[in-house]
Amino acid sequence: MRIVRAKDYEDMSRKAAAIIAAQVTLKPDCVLGLATGSTPIGTYKNLAAAYEAGDLDFSQVKTYNLDEYRGLPGDHDQSYRYFMNVNLFDHVNIDKANTHVPDGLMEDYEAACAEYDAAVAAAGHQDLQLLGIGNNGHIGFNEPGDAFVKGTHCVDLTESTIQANSRLFDSIDDVPRQAYTMGIGTIMAARSVLVIANGEVKAQAVHDMCYGPIAPSCQASILQLHPNCIVVADEAALSLCPAE
Ligand code: F6R
Repeated sequence: MRIVRAKDYEDMSRKAAAIIAAQVTLKPDCVLGLATGSTPIGTYKNLAAAYEAGDLDFSQVKTYNLDEYRGLPGDHDQSYRYFMNVNLFDHVNIDKANTHVPDGLMEDYEAACAEYDAAVAAAGHQDLQLLGIGNNGHIGFNEPGDAFVKGTHCVDLTESTIQANSRLFDSIDDVPRQAYTMGIGTIMAARSVLVIANGEVKAQAVHDMCYGPIAPSCQASILQLHPNCIVVADEAALSLCPAE
């Protein structure tokens, strides 16, 4: 794991966008695994700005998102499909047919989850997987538990995640209780992983991811085993980590 220190959110966002931009430049038809949430918004803004400036071309890029709330249609303003359109896809020249987000309304979800994994594999797996990290150490919606689940699956969200995500909904009762998420195996199959984190609220999770035991109680800790994982985090998120 390589840790890159950023001064603050803006610096983290610029550094993360530069790494993704390098991937797209070096391999224009690359496969990106993408994340939603507050953390990557600045990264996506920087990527959109680089596209506007004529420095990036997304026309051949394929994307697979990590997760989606169960029960939300893609046009719901809290769905992750909607988030991706508004924060990135609508601002760059990506072909929307090449963008994939798990379908929150999938009916036979076990089959649909298996198909999602098969599609990621058929695309050649992610060249680069962007991840945020939950306050509880989750990646995607792989919540703390007794095991690392391999493939895309349906999860019950923990109270801490429901609480953390309620800031984006009118009321906590509106937060879906379940989600579909890529599994740890799907994430670990990426050739490179970029984790971004900012703020003191992430400090314990970032410490446990980088320095804690590799255990499903902190799902992100599995990334210590990834051969090419970069963590870009600001000073506050790194405040519990040893200064290197
Ligand atoms: C989102 C996702 C989640 C978030 C995590 C952090 O697609 O997979 O794991 O990355 O919950 O969320 P924020 O960035 O809102 O703090």
